[in-house]
Amino acid sequence: APSGPLAGKHVIITSGPTHEPIDPVRYIANRSSGKQGHAIAKAAAEAGARVTLIAGPVTLPDPAGVTVVHVESARAMLEAVEQALPADIGIFAAAVADWRVANAGEQKIKKKDGALPNLSLTENPDILGTIARRTEGRPPLMVGFAAETENVIEHAKQKLARKGCDLIVANDVSAETGVMGGDSNTVHLVSASDVETWPTLSKTDVAKKLVERLSAMVGGAKP
Ligand code: C5P
Repeated sequence: APSGPLAGKHVIITSGPTHEPIDPVRYIANRSSGKQGHAIAKAAAEAGARVTLIAGPVTLPDPAGVTVVHVESARAMLEAVEQALPADIGIFAAAVADWRVANAGEQKIKKKDGALPNLSLTENPDILGTIARRTEGRPPLMVGFAAETENVIEHAKQKLARKGCDLIVANDVSAETGVMGGDSNTVHLVSASDVETWPTLSKTDVAKKLVERLSAMVGGAKP
């Protein structure tokens, strides 16, 4: 049996971007690499947890010792999370697309002279918000991420309240920070009562430190 501070705990993690189809060959995407979410999955497994990683389309290998469910769209990601519940901890690190194409083509949309396709967008489900607001089957510890380009902490506090989660890991993803796709991250841990700013760390170290913190919060033994 696994040992470690999260032994006996089930942790669900979402990671990566989502792809929202325009037609069978085209999609809307974003610049998330999945590095931070995947690093958290690995760290949680190393801490002894049973880990289900719901991964959007990424080029990263599946972390060892983790059950990985591969999905493309936000709706598929929500469905996979629901399938994976119950869990002790939910960590929602995926950069879920806010919108999808409402009138996605069933066949490849053909280029026509002088006519542009008319794509209309519709809102995707908020996976974190949906699960965190549930009274039944909500993981007791729900962690969200906030990727911001300004007023990082203020926005994170608002997000914590709006989403109904217990903790927000907030980071500045302005282009000049190189966080998106990069290997290091500067994060702030925002809870209802506290803001803690961590030094710039590798995404691996952010993952380890976060897992240590979450272990303490769920009453796991100290490593
Ligand atoms: O509102 P925003 O997208 O910035 O919130 C970020 C947090 O919410 C992240 O934890 C992200 O994984 C989660 N989220 C989600 N489903 C969405 C949008 C965001 O789970 N549709």
